Amino acid sequence: MDSADPDRLGAFRFLDLLGGEQDAAAELRAGLLARPARIAPKYFYDALGSRLFAAICCLPEYPLTRSEARLFATHGEAIAAAVGRGRLLVDLGAGDCAKAEALFPLLAPAGYAALDISADFLRAALERLQGRWPGLPVCGAAIDFTREGEWPQAVFVPTEAPRLWFYPGSSIGNFAPDAARAFLARIARACAAAPGGALLVGVDLVKGRAALEAAYDDALGVTAAFNLNVLNHANRLLAAGFDVADWRHVAFYDEDAARIEMHLEARREVEVRLGGATRRFAAGERILTEYSHKWTEAGFAALLESAGFGRRRSWLEEAGGFALFLAEASS
Ligand code: AVI
Repeated sequence: MDSADPDRLGAFRFLDLLGGEQDAAAELRAGLLARPARIAPKYFYDALGSRLFAAICCLPEYPLTRSEARLFATHGEAIAAAVGRGRLLVDLGAGDCAKAEALFPLLAPAGYAALDISADFLRAALERLQGRWPGLPVCGAAIDFTREGEWPQAVFVPTEAPRLWFYPGSSIGNFAPDAARAFLARIARACAAAPGGALLVGVDLVKGRAALEAAYDDALGVTAAFNLNVLNHANRLLAAGFDVADWRHVAFYDEDAARIEMHLEARREVEVRLGGATRRFAAGERILTEYSHKWTEAGFAALLESAGFGRRRSWLEEAGGFALFLAEASS
């Protein structure tokens, strides 16, 4: 549904491209019935989950957002010179749009296309943003862009300018390596199909276990709340009857796989209803909710290359914790 109101000054287009709650319910149900059970991390981002994630980004233990912002503060001019100004900024997983908006003065975008799975949260963020940037053509799209398929062209309507795909915050780490390659290849194909397309992507790098585990199990318990809240979302979509008090947050670093794993662990035996079926969880049984893969700089460069990005530049934090890559597709 396109809720554009072209007569209103500063109005933005908003497209609801979500497949509907039935698809989500079927996917969630299948994951919960599987053994081991899993819930895809995209289900974190209901209205409360999106707010909890914004709070995580402010936590002292979670440096990713600040590291990325520091890279832009330090290398902004070089990045802008390499990217070129006046592009359509395509923000993948826009959330509260803060990361992209911080770049507007640097990149002077010709338009802004914000994509996110959390429709109401995105719409509210764009209303606020459009008030601050009334002349900027903006399109918001509520979409699960992790699903395979063509990129919906309507999203890019604000302008014909060359596109800069922006995937910040190391969200690419939430894909397993093969899935990350497939997702990046979809972007590479879109970049190759239209003149001047490029990708700017932020990646959290491999570092010591203690720092990584603290980032995903903070002292205030915000990440625990973020993880547990996925059960509230599941209850709304499935009427499953999860009680968050029956579950505890578990996060640890698997060094061999170079990834943080987040799980929910049953504190006692739990029974939930999933449509016609009943799912029994033994005490101590876990639901996998998220992988957060960490990369080396060389490893991520190789991943980009294998996905079809023939030209790459990177900027690294001095402490070596985070990297930004600018990538162009081989034509
Ligand atoms: C969105 N994504 C990059 C975050 C991450 O670090 O993997 C999600 C997150 N999960 C727990 N804390 C933050």
